[in-house]
Amino acid sequence: MQVVILPSSESIGDYAADVILRGVAERPSTGHTNTGHTNYVLGVATGSSPLPIYEALERRWIPELASISAFALDEYVGLPYSHSESYHSVIDREVTTRLRLDPSKVHVPDGFADDPAAACLAYETAIQDAGGIDLQILGIGGSGHVGFNEPTSSFSSRTRIKTLTPETRRDNARFFSSPDEVPLHCMTQGLGTILDARKVLLVATGEKKAAAVARAVEGPLTSMCPGSALQLHPDATVLLDEAAAAELTLTDYYRFVFDNRPEWQR
Ligand code: GLP
Repeated sequence: MQVVILPSSESIGDYAADVILRGVAERPSTGHTNTGHTNYVLGVATGSSPLPIYEALERRWIPELASISAFALDEYVGLPYSHSESYHSVIDREVTTRLRLDPSKVHVPDGFADDPAAACLAYETAIQDAGGIDLQILGIGGSGHVGFNEPTSSFSSRTRIKTLTPETRRDNARFFSSPDEVPLHCMTQGLGTILDARKVLLVATGEKKAAAVARAVEGPLTSMCPGSALQLHPDATVLLDEAAAAELTLTDYYRFVFDNRPEWQR
């Protein structure tokens, strides 16, 4: 993993936006790429961590963004789409509207489906049909979860229904009028789905994330910290502020690597 420690959330947003805008610009608007697909496919995440990325992309909007497709990581089960905290609503508000995306190209798992197993399979198929995800944005939960892959999630899991941990429900209660309102279940891309993305950018800020970040980046590969699965990814970058990097042991080395990165990596 490449670990990049930056001074602020805003600089993290700008760094990520650089990577995404470069990827979008490199995609030809006509003709086929080696995947046989022309649209850039962005994997989007909810939570507060990625917001500076969407803000930076909104500030630096280019017309090519309007043609990208997007796939969300997860959704609550049983929350109507119209609920302000359903991830359908959150993605619509924070991503589709800000980036002026075509809503028909923005996908969120269907947590309200009559047949959830079929909906999970359909989501995997839709990602494949779009040519796979070019870049997946991720946050990380205090338990080390990515998407809603709670501890003990299989590293080869695909989109499926999970039960939220009491810790995650407590963390997310801040978005609801009462803790009991937080759904018990969710539909999430699996760790195997996430590992299939061609590039992964994990964002974490603040001291509350420091322990989870250290376990994901420097800890052993273990399903007890689902974020550690990213150590298996060939192109994963972790963008941190100083507080989120505080429990890493090799910070001097990460800074040295970043300061001395070869021209082709800049
Ligand atoms: C939720 C989301 C995750 C997100 C996590 C952390 O559980 N399903 O995708 O990473 O919250 O959110 P935040 O960035 O607000 O700390």
